This record gives sequence, structure tokens and C-alpha cells, in this order.
Amino acid sequence: MDDLYRDYILDHYKRPRNFGSLEPHDLEGLEHNPLCGDELGVHIRVKDERIEDLRFHGFGCAISQASASIASEELKGMSLREVAELGADWMIDLLGIPVSATRRKCALLNLKVVRGAVSGDDAWPS
Ligand code: FES
Repeated sequence: MDDLYRDYILDHYKRPRNFGSLEPHDLEGLEHNPLCGDELGVHIRVKDERIEDLRFHGFGCAISQASASIASEELKGMSLREVAELGADWMIDLLGIPVSATRRKCALLNLKVVRGAVSGDDAWPS
């Protein structure tokens, strides 16, 4: 992995943005990666059909935690409709590194939980 991107991922893993709980919240979700048992949850506050604020919680590998942190900064302000339609490419592009097939679920776990909370569709993003 390119040093720049490794540092970027590690920075988000060690100092995750928007990590914790959000009270009160309007939407919530919790998912786990069946391959490893790691979990990721989200609390979302909604205003005018947009994500006003959100917090992630849970535990997982560097890729899953960094993905959640990076995505959290982009998700704030998005309309619920936009979020419901986000695909796997959106997340992989944000990460900026090649993700192997075995780590794909790590990278997509946060998007799965957010989309599930927003739309009720808990399918893995494709
Ligand atoms: Fe569990 Fe990556 S190894 S989410």
C-alpha cells in the first residue's frame, strides 16, 4: 500500500471521526461482519430528510473502522434518498486503496449499516 494512503487509513483508525453515540437520534442500525464477528452500529439524527449528524460505534479491523470514519464525514448533509442509493464503489473510491475480495466486507460494513438504518434495506452494497 502507498505510504500516503496507509497513513490516511491509520489516522482514521487511531483517531476515528464521529465515533461514539448520539442522543437523541432518529435512526439507528447495527450490523456485523459474518466473516469475523466484528460489529458496527450507527446513530443518525435527521433534519429535513437529510442526515444532520451521526455517530458510529462498535469494533473491528483498521479497514472497517477507517471506512466508517471516512464515510461519516461525507454522509453528514446527504439526503436520505442519496444515502439509500450509495453503492460499493462510493465507499471503495473514498478509501482510495485497492481492497482485496477478502477485505471487501470490512470496507463495506459501515455503508451496509447506514443504508439499512436509512432505508430498511440491509443488503450488502454492490
Ligand atoms: Fe472484521 Fe475487517 S476483519 S471487519
